[in-house]
Amino acid sequence: MSYEIFARKYRPWKFEEVVGQLSVVRTIQNAIASSRIAQAYLFSGVRGTGKTTVARILAKALNCADGPTAHPCPDREHPCQFCKAIHEGNAIDVLEIDGASNRQVDDIEPIREMVKYKPAYTRTKVLIIDEVHMLSTHAFNALLKTLEEPPPNTVFIFATTEFNKVPATIVSRCQHFEFRKISHKDIINHLMEITRREGITITPAGLALIAEAADGSMRDAQSLLDQAVAFSGENIGDEDLKTILGTIGQDLLMRFSSVILDETPGEVFGLVETVVAAGYDLRFVFGKLIEHFRALLLVRSVEKPEDLLALSPEGLAALRAESAKAGPEDLLRYLLAMQQAEPGLKYSTMPRIYFEAFLVKLCHFRKIVPLRDLIKDVEALKESGPKPPIRPSGTAPKPAVPAGGASRPAPGSGPGPGPEAAPPKAAASAPKDVFARVLEKLAGDRAPLAALLGQYSSVIFKDNVIEVIFGSGRGFFVTSIQEKDIRAVERAASEVLGRETKVRFAEENATDGGPIRPGRELESAMKDPAVQFFMDTFKAQVLSADPVAASRDAGPKGRGPKEKDS
Ligand SMILES: Nc1ncnc2c1ncn2[C@@H]1O[C@H](COP(=O)(O)OP(=O)(O)OP(=O)(O)O)[C@@H](O)[C@H]1O
Ligand SMILES: [Mg+2]
Ligand SMILES: [Zn+2]
Repeated sequence: MSYEIFARKYRPWKFEEVVGQLSVVRTIQNAIASSRIAQAYLFSGVRGTGKTTVARILAKALNCADGPTAHPCPDREHPCQFCKAIHEGNAIDVLEIDGASNRQVDDIEPIREMVKYKPAYTRTKVLIIDEVHMLSTHAFNALLKTLEEPPPNTVFIFATTEFNKVPATIVSRCQHFEFRKISHKDIINHLMEITRREGITITPAGLALIAEAADGSMRDAQSLLDQAVAFSGENIGDEDLKTILGTIGQDLLMRFSSVILDETPGEVFGLVETVVAAGYDLRFVFGKLIEHFRALLLVRSVEKPEDLLALSPEGLAALRAESAKAGPEDLLRYLLAMQQAEPGLKYSTMPRIYFEAFLVKLCHFRKIVPLRDLIKDVEALKESGPKPPIRPSGTAPKPAVPAGGASRPAPGSGPGPGPEAAPPKAAASAPKDVFARVLEKLAGDRAPLAALLGQYSSVIFKDNVIEVIFGSGRGFFVTSIQEKDIRAVERAASEVLGRETKVRFAEENATDGGPIRPGRELESAMKDPAVQFFMDTFKAQVLSADPVAASRDAGPKGRGPKEKDS
């Protein structure tokens, strides 16, 4: 039996059904009625308050067969084809783009391409860019150009949960609407209506508990109701609710953080199974998990956290014990990684797998990521410049680690070409710069391909092979590259480098045999291929080996802990 979650089943069909955003909805309806549609809108406000919903209803208003109209197809059961497709998110001319996973300038390129053409089926193209604050500066600039000469028959709707991160230059070109947190009363009334229609019994006190926990987000409220039904069936008792809402706050989140901080990826799957079986919406869980890690970080960083967290003394003690498992820097890194990954969950076609994979990745986070990054950087260094000077043992040099970011520049490239280096014009440059020239050349006649390749996260030169690596989770870039594309890149690379060059593509963390495990003992550390790599490269000696679990500080520009093992 397929079960549709309440948030989807009860997505408002028309403006009048949108709860708690009266002034937004009125203004938009008036604008439509008087044919004064703006070219660009900016919807800001906390999650689950109706931004995407209103964007879709606006798209329907513009494109309804009876429109443009402030009341598109009022009868949900008998809509026109346009209203139906738009409500379901299937309309070709209404594009929803996730700003969080389209951060680079070149991703805006297809958008600019697309707005050049007239809508295929409808009157007005509508481009909804979600989480617009996540776009890179370059992407913003590209977007700005589009907004400066707005294409006809196109309306842009940007949505964001973090208004203060949207550049003023964009804001000034949009009509801005602020979506408010939805009041307890409105949430309670709305849930009451849903429970009535679903034949669910629940007390007013129970509804109030849910509204309290949802904190102004209608989606969260509906998701909690889903969960309550999964737990209790159609008769939801107050005690049940207290259990459910209590467990979200405490035990369950603690189990998640333990799996991550104790680095026990094997337990991820069982835990996710538990929450899925209990009826939780994974996005809701993810949101709570982020808040939980914020609390852990807070407890670790602030002297009197009790002033800032509404928690019982026992709750606080539990949090303290948990947060002691990692240093503040590590907790911060987890938190940032989670924040970055969270918006992607709602666009994933397989949210459960997305969530599981992400948690497993977090379990390996402390030991793998920095080490891998270092190896990549050092490899790039080796290929691009002279070998680093050999230092006396005990002062083994740390490779320069660039600041974090999606595209990683190679560390300070040496002054002259290495023995195997490319011809003079490419010689003194970092691999990244050389590859940028390859892309430039390619862009001449294969612009879309060049744009796609511009999404790479790092590039390594090995003899006559260029290895282009895409960030983990971006394997679809690799699979979308065809044979003839590879030939084109190789031609461009050969021209730039002045010698026959091959090109290979890979996804980060996808090609090799799993995690690198730093050994606990000196001996096993010596056998570790990663350590051997450092020993070879730097003529370094292993003086001591420590488990990597403890907290370490990152250098001033470092994006990860320093490895002690080499
Ligand atoms: N104002 C509202 N009135 C009625 N239902 C709402 C409202 N806001 C959200 N919902 C419910 O929550 C679901 C998700 O809402 P929507 O996608 O519009 O949120 P959003 O503001 O875009 O959130 P996010 O910032 O997470 O993208 C809707 O399908 C609907 O069921
Ligand atoms: Mg949305
Ligand atoms: Zn219609």
